[in-house]
Amino acid sequence: MSEWNALSRTELTQLLEESSSAYEKMKKLDLKLDLSRGKPSPDVLDLSNAYLNPPNTNTTEDGTDIRNYGAPTGLPECKRLFSELLDIPPAQIFIGGNASLQLMYDTFAMLYLFGLPEGTPWCKEDKIKVLCPCPGYDRHFNLAADFGAELVVVPMTEDGPDMDIVEQLVASDPSIKAMWNVPLYSNPQGIVYSNETVRRLAKMKTAAPDFKLLWDNAYGVHHIWKAYQIENIFRLTEEAGNPERVLYFFSTSKILFPGGGIGLVAAGPATIKSIATHMSKQTIGYNKIPQLKTVELFQNAEGIHKHMQKIADLLRPKFEIVLNALEKEFSENGLLSWETPKGGYFVGVETMDGCAKRTVALAKEAGAVLTDAGATYPHKNDPRDSSIRIAPTYPSLSELQQTMDLFCICVKIAALEKLLEK
Ligand SMILES: Cc1ncc(COP(=O)(O)O)c(C=O)c1O
Repeated sequence: MSEWNALSRTELTQLLEESSSAYEKMKKLDLKLDLSRGKPSPDVLDLSNAYLNPPNTNTTEDGTDIRNYGAPTGLPECKRLFSELLDIPPAQIFIGGNASLQLMYDTFAMLYLFGLPEGTPWCKEDKIKVLCPCPGYDRHFNLAADFGAELVVVPMTEDGPDMDIVEQLVASDPSIKAMWNVPLYSNPQGIVYSNETVRRLAKMKTAAPDFKLLWDNAYGVHHIWKAYQIENIFRLTEEAGNPERVLYFFSTSKILFPGGGIGLVAAGPATIKSIATHMSKQTIGYNKIPQLKTVELFQNAEGIHKHMQKIADLLRPKFEIVLNALEKEFSENGLLSWETPKGGYFVGVETMDGCAKRTVALAKEAGAVLTDAGATYPHKNDPRDSSIRIAPTYPSLSELQQTMDLFCICVKIAALEKLLEK
């Protein structure tokens, strides 16, 4: 099939009629489908039901009673588990509460109020800017916007953020204080930063001496087909003479129960010390019961990898449904393009310019909720109105198939309407 923008008005009108009639049929099914947020399905959650049982012991290896105050930066055995998993020294890890986003917020607040490690608080600056590779994760953008930061869009490439642009921006503008990164299986495109990208980020010259890489490795063990690896960012920043550049985040939200596990922040030696000091003013200590449970359940990094393989076995067919549907409907007509994700939790697609909002609205009207069009850009402002995030993890296989059938029809209607406007 040729590109549809080369078709005549008559051909386009006929195709629109066919798609509209398929759409009306789907509307009558009274569907209630949700592809909006990256949540695990009940069968994935069931893999972690043992997490609901109480721990086998109340006492940790150093004698700490997990029912009581103590171990304010995290249990040593839990730090060791994540040290092995993420290849970060235990001393550079702080284990927090139930999720990583809160640690991102808290550390951003510390940078804003105090500077990290002790430095000039960002609130003393006239303006702060944060680089946002796009498409990206809406909650990252909302977090930085909450502190009044100007959000600067950087385009993504198949190797990660466009590094020529990033290097030029950070070298010339001291108000650029930070940059969001989801280096492995980015949200939403499932892109893996290339080693070249990671090295350039570690060593690039920044006009702001306190510039931070906000390194959210949320999908660091979420392989679907092949286990991709990226170079260790701490080793690279240290080698480049920038040992305090990274704030690294991780959690068990997509390993165990979202918002019901543990989150951690890791940073350079001086920064992690400073974080622990500020945290000690905020809490006497986080809940240690989930920390010990996590250690008991997994024992070591291999235990986590084995568990993730079981999750991948359940997620793989879902990604295949999405990718097969896209391939079948859009490989040759030019109405939709996408980056095949290398792993993670999402599929990011690009409609023809000016068609994303209409596509999402059509799907909603027929009973399928998608992430809001534009959500992958700061302030929901996608300049081309083309980016849509598909979150295939929650629905059952049959619901997902049905949603994709509907989604493809909606993409076609929105695109054909746009082509006929011309
Ligand atoms: C990139 C990214 N970071 C963080 C989170 C949230 O993680 P947590 O539950 O640990 O706050 C998500 C959830 O979708 C995510 O996609």
